[in-house]
This record gives sequence, C-alpha cells and structure tokens, in this order.
Amino acid sequence: MSKGEIVLGCLAPHPPHLVYAENPPQNEAFSEGGWETLRWGYAKLARKLKTIDYDAIVIFTPHWQTYIGTHFLGLPEFKSKSVDPVFPNLFRYNYDLKVDVELAEAMHEETAKAGIITKMMRNPDFRVDYGTITSCHLLNPSWDKPIVTISSNRNSHYYSNEVMIEQAKALGEACMKAIEKSGKKVVLVSSHSLSHRHFVTEAPLPEDMSREHIYNHSQYVWDMKIIDMFRNGQMKEVVDIMPEYTEQTIAETEAGGLIWMMAAMGVPSYPAEIYGYQSVIGTGNCIACWDPNNETRELVL
Ligand SMILES: [Fe+2]
Repeated sequence: MSKGEIVLGCLAPHPPHLVYAENPPQNEAFSEGGWETLRWGYAKLARKLKTIDYDAIVIFTPHWQTYIGTHFLGLPEFKSKSVDPVFPNLFRYNYDLKVDVELAEAMHEETAKAGIITKMMRNPDFRVDYGTITSCHLLNPSWDKPIVTISSNRNSHYYSNEVMIEQAKALGEACMKAIEKSGKKVVLVSSHSLSHRHFVTEAPLPEDMSREHIYNHSQYVWDMKIIDMFRNGQMKEVVDIMPEYTEQTIAETEAGGLIWMMAAMGVPSYPAEIYGYQSVIGTGNCIACWDPNNETRELVL
C-alpha cells in the first residue's frame, strides 16, 4: 500500500447564511440570495475539488464543542435535521451523510498514542453540527465523498489560546500519521471565519446586502494582514501571531482548526490560493486553500 497523503487543505467558513442564500433542496428556509462574493468563491473551489482525486474529507469544526478530549464521528451514516441554534430562521437542513469510520478510527488511535484524551462518537442520534454541514455542502454539494468530523476541545476556555495551539498542533501531527498509514488521499477542511465580532441584531430581510459590512475597521486590518501572510506562504509566522490575532479580533481561530490543519500539512511555506473575502453579520470570512502540488497550485485572486 502506498503512503497516504493530504492533497488539499481548505479554510472554509461556515456562516449558515451562505447555505440559506443558495436555496438547496435540503434547506427549508427560502432566500433571495446574498453574500455572492463568498458563494462564488466557494463554487470555484468546489470546481477545483472536482478535478482532484481523493477518498475522504476530514473536517475540524468549532461547533462541535467537547470539554473532555477530542471526539471523532464513528458511525457509517448520520441522518437528521440540523438547525442553527442562533439562526433557526435561516438554517433547517436535512442531512444524510456518510463517514469514513476506518479513517476516523485510525486518527483516533494515533491521537490517543500522542497522549490526547479522545473518544469515538457512536450515538446514532447524535446531531451533526451546522459548521460541518455548511462547509461540506459548499465545498462538495453532491456529498459524494465520506467525511470525518473532528470536535473542538475547548482548551482555550479551560487554559489559554497558547495551550489550545499546542494541543491543536499535536492533534494535527497525529492525524497526519494516521492518514499516511491509511494509504488514502485526504482533503482537510478547517471550518471557521477569521475575525468574529458580529452584530447582535439582524436586518428585517437577512439577505439585504445594503446592511452588510465588517463590524469594525480594526477587524478588517487584522484580517487583511493574516490573508497577506497566507498569500506569501508565511504560515509559520501566522502560527506565531495566532494568540494575539485571536484575542484582538475574537477570531474563530480560537477553536484550533487552522493550527490543526497547518500542523498536519507540515506548516506550508508556499502561497495559499485565495477565493474570496466578505463579511457576514459583520464577521470576516476568507475562503482559501493550500495546494501542496506545485503543478496545480494557482494564483486565484
Ligand atoms: Fe461559527
């Protein structure tokens, strides 16, 4: 069996507004559109994914929060309705997804070996979080690949952003070992926004784009700084400033997803592909990917 590998790493924000704006048949709510910069960026990245040979999507989500250890989805199928607790008016999505249990178990095993508390989720009634569903739907609307979801252990709440980073690095390295041993080709997804201060009231029509803008200028400047570093392949520096960035912008990076993905990918020093940046209820959202293949890596935006 040849060595497994990570064929792409995607930063994939998950505001439920983006699924709402797409009006897929799985979602009950109806919209008149909105947030096209992000949706068109996602569509372009989804087209790239269709050209890549891979076996599974492994996604790290901030909205499956676990307070004792890191958990992995551990049954072959999960089917239910996912309702966003904050935006039930926008997101009531009927999902039916397949899990690569073999890969999840392999990552669970390597994670335990690295000394991290970890558990498989075997409850058939477990409701999959909207972060997983939104990012996976937008990256692969046909849902024709199995997924593995990894929970976010809230070390930043118990300890600090620094401890979260150390744990997320160890988790990423463990997942990489499991992927290599599996012989599979895997797409990693880090599901989150960048800056995350947001408005606390909603426009009467949520997709009214005349009401959408970044929450404040400082957030915008920080996001542009980080995206510039993505473009320049400065991921080591991004990891170094992550505690400060997360604190200053209340960024959703606090869940550990980006660090997990960068550690698994050996902290890339090549440029990221940028697919778009736009605000959703004032938060900063960037779609980006890290393509380890020199031949297919492009300058997108
Ligand atoms: Fe979120």
